[in-house]
Amino acid sequence: MPVPLFDTSTPIAPLRGAIDAKLAEVIDGSRFILGPEVSAFESEFAAYVGAEHAIGVANGTDAITLALRAMGVGPGDEVVVPSFTFYASAEAIPLTGARPVFCDVDPETFCVTAETVKAALTPRTKAVIVVHLFGNVAPVAEIEALGVPVLEDAAQAAGSRSPEGRPGSLGTAATFSFFPSKNLGAFGDGGAITTRDGEVAERVRMLRFHGSRDKQTFELIGHNSRLDELQAAILRVQLPHLEQWADGRRQGGANYEAAGLGELVDLPRALGEPAWHLYVIRHDRADDLAEALKAAGIGQKAYYRVPTHEQPAMRDYAPAVELPGTAEAARTHLAIPMSPVLSREQADEVVSVVRDAGLGH
Ligand SMILES: Cc1ncc(COP(=O)(O)O)c(C=O)c1O
Repeated sequence: MPVPLFDTSTPIAPLRGAIDAKLAEVIDGSRFILGPEVSAFESEFAAYVGAEHAIGVANGTDAITLALRAMGVGPGDEVVVPSFTFYASAEAIPLTGARPVFCDVDPETFCVTAETVKAALTPRTKAVIVVHLFGNVAPVAEIEALGVPVLEDAAQAAGSRSPEGRPGSLGTAATFSFFPSKNLGAFGDGGAITTRDGEVAERVRMLRFHGSRDKQTFELIGHNSRLDELQAAILRVQLPHLEQWADGRRQGGANYEAAGLGELVDLPRALGEPAWHLYVIRHDRADDLAEALKAAGIGQKAYYRVPTHEQPAMRDYAPAVELPGTAEAARTHLAIPMSPVLSREQADEVVSVVRDAGLGH
């Protein structure tokens, strides 16, 4: 039985009629940029996350650049960021004029810790980007306790929760991506910034709109980076289902555990209650395991085999930095199927293929 790496269409299928009706409404209304759907989505998403403000932008990468700029980051500053993440987490930093400084992760959680961040702080550090990777909820409060503002990169963590609150409500500000495969996905690009800080929210609103409040006076060099009305309308239909989908992702992880996957590979250690965006295991022979899964029709992918600090464009920002946790995670990680509808039968199938591969633990 083939099992896909992810399944975005099954959860959305029952919503197709509602989405079609909403799209027709937006088209009939002829408001496509910064209209009622974006405003309503911003209020609804802020309430879901538990933040004071949400501001829709064009994608999750712009969200990071705009949030950093709104937090006062600019030329001469350093921003600490993990290397083991999607490249965009770091790419957004030089676009503000600041320098990325790479820190390590704990390979068991794939997230930064207060210790790994502390090792990268300097007097120039203006902010830390804490990535809630794969849906895990990284320890924001412990990092804020180091005395440095935190921007959460919550692109992969919509629907996750922790005793302290949801990703998006934990740091000074947070960023989300609504790339179609994300836990809450648009039908194209989209993103948002959430924040508890009214001044940051106000600056982001200006920055996404050419640095202007009214398109008459331009106070800042800004961006043209808006979530559009059609995408906001689609996201509004989906948002009431996010919690159920997140529970499905948590259940998918529980299904793997119940099927005995932990006897065969290293399972990801959960921080908080992750809505697993990707379910990423570790194995010494990850590429051999990938081959065996592929041969059996099981979706699998090594997302970050070459970590960000080793990417060619980051050459100038990563002077011989030693990141052992990152190296370990990069070498051994492998994403296996995960979705809001990953059944016990699918988990059993994946686990039996892993077992039959006979690669040891
Ligand atoms: C951790 C992380 N940060 C940032 C982004 C960038 O988001 P986008 O693709 O919407 O620009 C993504 C996803 O693509 C991501 O996974």
